[in-house]
Amino acid sequence: MTKVKVAILISGRGSNMAALIAAAKDRAYPAQIVLVIANLADAGGLALAAAQGIETAVIEHAPFGKDRLAHERMIDAKLRQAGIEIVALAGYMRVLTPFLVEAWAGRMINIHPSLLPALPGLHTHQRALEAGLEKHGCTVHLVTAGVDEGPILGQAKVDILPGDTEASLSARVLEEEHKLYARCLADLAKTITKTS
Ligand code: GAR
Repeated sequence: MTKVKVAILISGRGSNMAALIAAAKDRAYPAQIVLVIANLADAGGLALAAAQGIETAVIEHAPFGKDRLAHERMIDAKLRQAGIEIVALAGYMRVLTPFLVEAWAGRMINIHPSLLPALPGLHTHQRALEAGLEKHGCTVHLVTAGVDEGPILGQAKVDILPGDTEASLSARVLEEEHKLYARCLADLAKTITKTS
């Protein structure tokens, strides 16, 4: 089976990245993780990926200052050089310009810790608690120009329980993120395999 080549973009600890790498080890999984790019040199996920024998690259945004486009051009060049077919954002905490979004339209996905369109942005777990919601969860969506927008590929719900704290709730959502992301990436990889 020819597997679809995936790059993962991270900024931090990379637990979703690790979940995708683990899922892709299955012989029947339709995608392979061939590249991890971080915009921060101290992103914890880099060491995890390297330990799995996956190529890693650090393309820091800071040296580019306000020139987001130049930073993204460098990322795009690296993705193309590696023959990437799908880009998975996994805790990549940069707002993208239309350049990168359009270059990867239909082939760039993101995971977000809320049931979009509810609670876009940051601190979703705390905001879910403050709003007194009964349900919370996570969403995988195609990346489009609007932040945390784009067609939804899948969602997983968790109940908010009495006594939940930001820590307890985020831990339960994260468990669901790992399963959901692996499932949605596989689904997208299958559609790409069929159409190419
Ligand atoms: C995850 O909860 C992910 O959904 C969130 O950042 C965390 C990264 O954790 N992403 C966003 O908030 C994007 N808007 P991880 O590095 O352990 O995967």
